[in-house]
Amino acid sequence: MRTYLVTGGAGFIGSNYIHYMFRKYDNEIRIINVDVLTYAGNLENLKDIEDRDNYTFIRADITDKDAIQKIFDENDIDRVVHFAAESHVDRSIKNPEVFVKTNVLGTAVMLNCAKAAWELPDGSFKEGKKFLHVSTDEVYGSLPDDGTSYFYETTPYSPHSPYSASKASSDMLVKAYIDTYKFPANITNCSNNYGPYQFPEKLIPLIINNALQGKKLPVYGNGMNIRDWLYVDDHAKGIDMVQEKGKLGETYNIGGHNEKRNIEIIHIILDTLKEMLPENDPRRANVSEDLITYVEDRKGHDIRYAIAPDKIKAEIGWEPETMFAEGIKKTIAWFFEHEDWMKNVTSGDYQKYYESMYNNR
Ligand code: NAD
Ligand code: DAU
Repeated sequence: MRTYLVTGGAGFIGSNYIHYMFRKYDNEIRIINVDVLTYAGNLENLKDIEDRDNYTFIRADITDKDAIQKIFDENDIDRVVHFAAESHVDRSIKNPEVFVKTNVLGTAVMLNCAKAAWELPDGSFKEGKKFLHVSTDEVYGSLPDDGTSYFYETTPYSPHSPYSASKASSDMLVKAYIDTYKFPANITNCSNNYGPYQFPEKLIPLIINNALQGKKLPVYGNGMNIRDWLYVDDHAKGIDMVQEKGKLGETYNIGGHNEKRNIEIIHIILDTLKEMLPENDPRRANVSEDLITYVEDRKGHDIRYAIAPDKIKAEIGWEPETMFAEGIKKTIAWFFEHEDWMKNVTSGDYQKYYESMYNNR
């Protein structure tokens, strides 16, 4: 049975990926989820699978090389799928150091431990071992608002935020391992994900949650920035397909072909909430365009991200399946069904974060 070591599996994309993998492979695989459980890691995301015999959770920090080495020593890991990271751009602007520690040092530790476990005496690697590094389109910088230019795998790196600079550094480390040691790895750079279990510091769940409560909907700058939205299940499928069919050493961009301006996203969410909330639901009265509030722009705010997922389509046969109109309905339906999840993650520390981030905006 193939054993996957998933890092950051208690976060948004990692937990969706674990669900996807068990839906697809059921008892044919074993998953070890390593997560230190920062504010963004939540074991509630995995409640329905935690009792499976072929699933193990280990609380560990990816920057702790002894802890990670021990996991490799005690388990015959076949695949590493490396999600663990600090992921929020606004937090990186306020506090860059933890981004360097987790995203750069953490990736170095993961690479080094996998290399030590998988390397043979002649410097080659054991058959079938693979490392997939999950990265972001933000490493390519910002595109003009022209609707015609795209990020390709060949686009030069030009990160702007401390977050994207740390992810770019981690990508470079993976590339260095591929070039220097012929280390069996792939990198995927994907666009903005949305879907179930997304932490409400990110635009889409924040707007859904605030609108339902009649709270202000903060739009940074003029709301015209563009992101390319990818439904998280499509991303999970893409990651699995890269592992199965990708050429080792290659980078694959994964994008949604779903470019939208931030203000458009907010209007779509408001319209969809009004459409989906039952007539007698008291939250209907809260949902209103009047909540839209233009606030101070994000520092260094990238204008536009857009991926042309041509390479992954041609070489691997993956393409995005979920159009935004459908994905946002699924996402909102999930949040309706998981009110307690939202209440739990928005209490305590998140309240403090929200006040400090938005009070002077
Ligand atoms: P997330 O913030 O929701 O989850 C990150 C997870 O990593 C959490 O469970 C957290 O506890 C864990 N973690 C953080 N530091 C750790 C450490 N030192 N040791 C062990 N675990 C640690 O992030 P996400 O949105 O699910 O993103 C996952 C990955 O995908 C990240 O690498 C991110 O850069 C990348 N990515 C995200 C998006 C997106 O739209 N969310 C898009 C492109 C790429
Ligand atoms: O492109 C991939 C990246 O997408 C990932 O690498 C990051 O991990 C992920 O967080 C995401 O980064 P963004 O900065 O694009 O996502 P965020 O949801 O924070 O913001 C989306 C857009 O909405 C961005 O232009 C800023 C804007 N925004 C965001 C928030 C939280 C607002 O206007 N108001 C807000 O309150």
